[in-house]
Amino acid sequence: MRDGVSQPAHHGVSDVTRRELAYHEKLYSGFAQQHFARPAVRELRAHIVRRILKLTGAGKGSRVLSLGCGIGDTELLLAPQVAEVTGVDLSPAAIRQARADAERLGIANARFVEGTTAEGRWDAVIAIFFLHHLPDAELEALPGRLKEWLTPGGVFYSLDPSRRRLSGAVGRRLIPGLMKRYQTEDERELDAEATAGIFRRGGLEARVEMYDFGSSPLAGLCPGWRWGYRAARRVDDVVLRTGLRRWGSNFELVVGRG
Ligand SMILES: C[S@@+](CC[C@H](N)C(=O)[O-])C[C@H]1O[C@@H](n2cnc3c(N)ncnc32)[C@H](O)[C@@H]1O
Repeated sequence: MRDGVSQPAHHGVSDVTRRELAYHEKLYSGFAQQHFARPAVRELRAHIVRRILKLTGAGKGSRVLSLGCGIGDTELLLAPQVAEVTGVDLSPAAIRQARADAERLGIANARFVEGTTAEGRWDAVIAIFFLHHLPDAELEALPGRLKEWLTPGGVFYSLDPSRRRLSGAVGRRLIPGLMKRYQTEDERELDAEATAGIFRRGGLEARVEMYDFGSSPLAGLCPGWRWGYRAARRVDDVVLRTGLRRWGSNFELVVGRG
């Protein structure tokens, strides 16, 4: 099989994966669909897509694999810019929604598959808010998988919450209930450099970029406020050039074979 996907995720899986599945099946039964459709979240998704294109160099001829694609809202924005997108997620509810949205939007070059891994070769592999859900052993195994998946010159891009983020410390203090609602039992914020080290030890080149400071947390808190997001994003572009970047909210990894 050229681009096969593993067994359905719920057969013979770890307790972490089982808990992830239970949480996300519930999340994708309505709340996520409504929340992700709000204007500020759509703006955030569009910004993420621009970053993916810029940092991976993906373009009209590129085939892209997305790990932990959720309901595919980022992937469906990306699809018109590339040759083809394959999204993989362990949640059947997410995959059903992604497929329905692809059909509704008439996007024929995006496909969504239920599973936890894939077989094939891609010019870019992306993982949006995904790595911090992977158990340590699976994160450690990822560089080996990337060597199989990436074509020569191919690039891996990820985006995840930073362990040092100021927004996390403030959120835990001010709105602990809301923070919990957005988090699974097993996910954890990641240390950017330590995570890059996993890929370097795996024989890949990895660099860290800080993605944001306040704009993405604002989109989560005020999802209807498009202009607020746009203004916060502009502020972030300035703030990220200062020393405050080390307390930024989410970090990007850009990984290649070197
Ligand atoms: C925080 S969500 C991010 C989803 C999407 N990328 C987004 O930006 O909205 C993490 C996703 O990873 C999926 N997931 C968790 N563990 C997984 C695994 N081992 N393999 C595949 N998907 C997994 C969950 O079902 C969930 O959709």
